[in-house]
Amino acid sequence: MSRKPLVVGNWKMNGSRAANAVLLAGLKEAGPWAAEVAVCVPFPYIAETALALTGLSVAYGSQDCSAHESGAYTGEVSSAMLADLGCRYAIVGHSERRAYHHESDQLVADKAKAALAHGVTPIVCVGETLAEREAGQAETVVRRQLAAVVHTLTHCIGEIVLAYEPVWAIGTGRTATPADAQAIHAVLRMQLHAATKKGDAIRILYGGSVKPDNAAELFAQADIDGGLIGGASLKAADFAAICAAANRRAAS
Ligand code: 13P
Repeated sequence: MSRKPLVVGNWKMNGSRAANAVLLAGLKEAGPWAAEVAVCVPFPYIAETALALTGLSVAYGSQDCSAHESGAYTGEVSSAMLADLGCRYAIVGHSERRAYHHESDQLVADKAKAALAHGVTPIVCVGETLAEREAGQAETVVRRQLAAVVHTLTHCIGEIVLAYEPVWAIGTGRTATPADAQAIHAVLRMQLHAATKKGDAIRILYGGSVKPDNAAELFAQADIDGGLIGGASLKAADFAAICAAANRRAAS
């Protein structure tokens, strides 16, 4: 089964209009890539990002979305609004939201459902903390997180992108070894297989300190279909190099 590699930049709460313009111009210069490439930017910058990417094959999206359709939810952004702005993707369930905003597995699943209802592909993040890994719970935790999404989306589960981001590898410079990452990806793939005949077509990205010098080795693993990139997505040259590493996988 050939899955088109996907590399997504998660800018997190970084950027400014001036800095974004430089970054996006840098990507324009460096592309195109054989892999699919996207940037998930802060809400206020989505419209301007869309304009800057006009005519390019780089997609864009958000870093969250509301589980609600519309109404009195001050501060929330609906997936209908994201669709209105042309977003292809919405990250949901990032560990920073699970940790700092107390998002439950079910809320994350509801957000994924809301995104899909408007044609926005949810990039569903799962991942264990260091304490959970050290307690031998890594598989149990990611399986539990994915199970809520499988249960809620039922036959639509084949429409998601999944991202495995071990919490202890995010922003720490400590990457999972390619073999450790692949082992969890294989577990997630089996779970998807059990849920849908389309399990083989679902892309599973790895995230957590992916850099130009480790990307190729990670992307060479059988079940790692690209990356969700934090810090290194803020520098055009680094992000471009990671996209190129996924290119090689696309070409192989
Ligand atoms: P870093 O690449 O900065 O470790 O962040 C990973 C991440 O959280 C992407 O969503």
